Amino acid sequence: MSGRVIVVGSVNVDLVVWSARLPAPGETVSGGRFEQHDGGKGGNQATAAARLGASVLLLGAVGADSFGAQARSALAAAGVDVSGLATNPTEATGIALILVDAAGENVISVASGANLALEPDAIEAELARLGSLVGDVVLVSNELVPSTAAAALRCARAAGARTIFNPAPAVGIDVSLLEFVDLLTPNRGELAVLSGRTGSDFDAVSAARALPVREAVIVTLGSDGVLVVPRDGAPWPVPATVVEVVDTTGAGDAFNGALAAALAEGRSLEEAVRRAVAAGSLATTRPGAREGMPTPAELDVALGS
Ligand code: RIB
Repeated sequence: MSGRVIVVGSVNVDLVVWSARLPAPGETVSGGRFEQHDGGKGGNQATAAARLGASVLLLGAVGADSFGAQARSALAAAGVDVSGLATNPTEATGIALILVDAAGENVISVASGANLALEPDAIEAELARLGSLVGDVVLVSNELVPSTAAAALRCARAAGARTIFNPAPAVGIDVSLLEFVDLLTPNRGELAVLSGRTGSDFDAVSAARALPVREAVIVTLGSDGVLVVPRDGAPWPVPATVVEVVDTTGAGDAFNGALAAALAEGRSLEEAVRRAVAAGSLATTRPGAREGMPTPAELDVALGS
């Protein structure tokens, strides 16, 4: 029987302008197109896992506003259990302002609102309510107060879960929390920040080996795929699936959600990473963070299985 995927993370509404190119500071680029999408790293990761058939709970917070109501119903419609998604009566729902250029690259600025008002005790209480987490996967990202992310990882480990920490954004993280992390999924920049190795001689393998995670560091490298650096054993790369990129927003979230889903199904780390890489690539083929996230059938086609 499959375990659950419990996602602890942010929920945002994404206000997106598509333009031919990204403006420089102080510059206005006219002629863009506006779209509104559901977003937030936690919401996106939960959606990716649910679309792949996992039983998913999301712990997080929205505001008591129309954006919050919309975010909640989109998650519920995607099959995510939102009973642990709090409504904060005084803070606004998180909003991400996103600019995407013709090549699908983006810049994002987030007003975190209710996400940053989520206290460690609230997450501890929600995780305690779930009882034993043996066989479950808890996936935590960092668009929260870092102490809340740390509390989630500590409680998850204590309750027997396998833990994944996506250190995005890599701000305010006390690396001592890595002792509660089985799998760490930074991109190259986040790995540099966490390891303190930011020089021109940066080497992803030695940076990853400097971090005290239990199982492996999985470095996401965009169109170059990922590099898995196990705590014991040789590093191994997985190339990205070749696709036509429309929008890279949420690709990392699709990767993390699919990784959690595959591990909760009992797949090996190698198989889970291959599925997650393909899911991350497929997510870039449609506009918005969630629209391109694959179903199991789409993933099987991409993997040729
Ligand atoms: O990872 C992509 C997400 O980052 C977007 O959906 C946006 O909301 C920001 O949180």
